[in-house]
Amino acid sequence: MTGFTIAIDGPAASGKGTLARRLAAQFGFHHLDTGLTYRAVAHALLQADLPLDNEELAVVAAENIDLGGLDRDILSDHAIGEAASKIAVMSKVRRVLVDKQREFAAREPGAVLDGRDIGTVVCPDAPVKLYVTASREVRAKRRHLEMAAKNGYGGGTVSYEEILADIVRRDERDMGRADSPLKPASDAHLIDTSSMDIETAFKTALAIVNTARDG
Ligand code: C5P
Repeated sequence: MTGFTIAIDGPAASGKGTLARRLAAQFGFHHLDTGLTYRAVAHALLQADLPLDNEELAVVAAENIDLGGLDRDILSDHAIGEAASKIAVMSKVRRVLVDKQREFAAREPGAVLDGRDIGTVVCPDAPVKLYVTASREVRAKRRHLEMAAKNGYGGGTVSYEEILADIVRRDERDMGRADSPLKPASDAHLIDTSSMDIETAFKTALAIVNTARDG
C-alpha cells in the first residue's frame, strides 16, 4: 500500500507552492517542494566552490541530499534558484533526485509534491494532477510585491521589468530543456490563477482533489 499522491506542476510564481502547502495541511499529508531538492544540489556545489557544469560532481551532491534537511530560508535565495535551473538540465542528477522524490511520494497517508515534472515523470500514476499557471505579467507582479515586502531581491532592490525578464528566462529554460520539460500532463487539471485570489484557487483545487478521492 502506498499513500494518496497529489502532483502539482507549474512555472515560477504561479501559486503552486501555496496551493501545495494548503492541500497538504487540509488532508494531513506530507509535502515536498521538489524545487528545493534542485536548489540543495546547487547550494552544495556553490558552498564547496565547485563548478555548476560538472555533471559527475553534481550527481555526488544529489546523492547526498537529505530530503529531511532542506532549509527553505537558505535555499530560497535568488542566486541559488538560477544555479538550480542550470543543474536541472542534467539527466543523471534528475534521475537521482526523482528516485528520492518517488520514495517521498509513497509516504502514508499521502503526499503532495510540487515542481515541474511531477505529473509527467515523477508520479505519472498520481490520482490527482494539477497544472497551476498564470500569465507572466501576473507572476512577475506577485514576485515583485513579495520581494518588496521582504525588502530586497538577492539583497538589493529589483525592478518589475527585471523580475519579468527573469521569469521569461526561467520559463524558457524549464520548458525548453530536453529532459523532463515543464508541461502539463495530458490528464492534468489546469488552474489558471491569473485572475484568482489564493482562496479561490484553493477552493478550485480542493474540489478537484475531493472528487478524485471520492471516485
Ligand atoms: O521551483 P523552484 O524555483 O524552487 O525550482 C528551482 C529550479 O529547479 C527550477 O527553475 C527548475 O529548473 C528546477 N526544477 C525542476 N524540476 C522540478 C522542480 C524544480 O527542474 N520538479
